[in-house]
Amino acid sequence: MRDRLGRKIDYLRVSVTDRCNLRCLYCLPPQGVRPKTHEEILRYEEIVRLVEVAVSLGIRRVRLTGGEPLVRLGLTRLVAALAAIPGLHDLSLTTNGTLLAPLAEELKRAGLRRVNISLDTLRPERFRAVTRGGTLADAWAGIEAALAAGLHPVKINTVAMAGVNDDELADLAELTRRFPLHVRFIEVMPLGADLDWAGAHVLPMAAVRAAVEKVGRLEPAQVAGAGPARAWRFPGAPGTVGFIGALSETFCARCNRLRLTADGKLKPCLASDVEVDVRGLLRRGAGNQELEGAFRQALELKPSHHDLASYPGHARVMCQIGG
Ligand code: 5AD
Ligand code: SF4
Repeated sequence: MRDRLGRKIDYLRVSVTDRCNLRCLYCLPPQGVRPKTHEEILRYEEIVRLVEVAVSLGIRRVRLTGGEPLVRLGLTRLVAALAAIPGLHDLSLTTNGTLLAPLAEELKRAGLRRVNISLDTLRPERFRAVTRGGTLADAWAGIEAALAAGLHPVKINTVAMAGVNDDELADLAELTRRFPLHVRFIEVMPLGADLDWAGAHVLPMAAVRAAVEKVGRLEPAQVAGAGPARAWRFPGAPGTVGFIGALSETFCARCNRLRLTADGKLKPCLASDVEVDVRGLLRRGAGNQELEGAFRQALELKPSHHDLASYPGHARVMCQIGG
């Protein structure tokens, strides 16, 4: 599939739930948000049908996201059904890791290829504060289980926040000397939960990089399935480090993705509020041609670029990362 600008779109991010067991400072307001009802959320069968249509149109890679995808019951069943779709080459998951340890093996066996896990700090107290109640040991157990299950490359998403975790960025980068982990630092983005909070904690990628380079020289590296982040490594390290400047650079010209929300809307761009309803079509008994039409419409509506840097602007934005 190509969009109006000739960008090749072969990647679909599928949100399977809007719920989460954590409430990270940069993601949600303290009181959380009203969860969608069971009826509003797509059933697994509906997701599988839509992904089949997407693959027939040229989607080759699917990532499951949330909320936290592992709070949804029976996710392994969805993974197995998606993994069985011919033509789908890569199936991955973005998770906070806290529920992953007991599930990593069965997800791998069901056909999940790899995972991205959030980790913003290595200090238990700070983890509790950033996630508003989460337990670092659970997230770390998830990371170890992902490595043990062979969900490679295991990528770590670290949101760099001024005044929150800027004193341990080098420690997080040094994980890559001990483990085959791919740590990607992400600029905190104004995504809607609390724009002022995000704005006050932006830490430019140049500063993150400088902090990391204090503990070692970085050389260019390759990571399979690398997205917008170019990778770097400390000489001889098993893992890599990446820097995603979501605000200071934009990757829109290389954007390769569409999103499907948990309540059945196709989103051409996270930075835009434009949506195409597919749940309504599905539940009115639409045929494949009509569903294909909805995907084409979403492509038509894909903007050329976002305007995140002119914060405060849109309510939600995350062109390059998970969420
Ligand atoms: N800014 C940057 N990254 C964010 N994420 C969620 N909200 C934000 C934000 N406001 C990322 C985190 C998490 C992933 C699911 O989304 O890195 O790992
Ligand atoms: Fe949950 Fe991820 Fe949002 Fe944190 S960033 S509250 S783990 S969805």
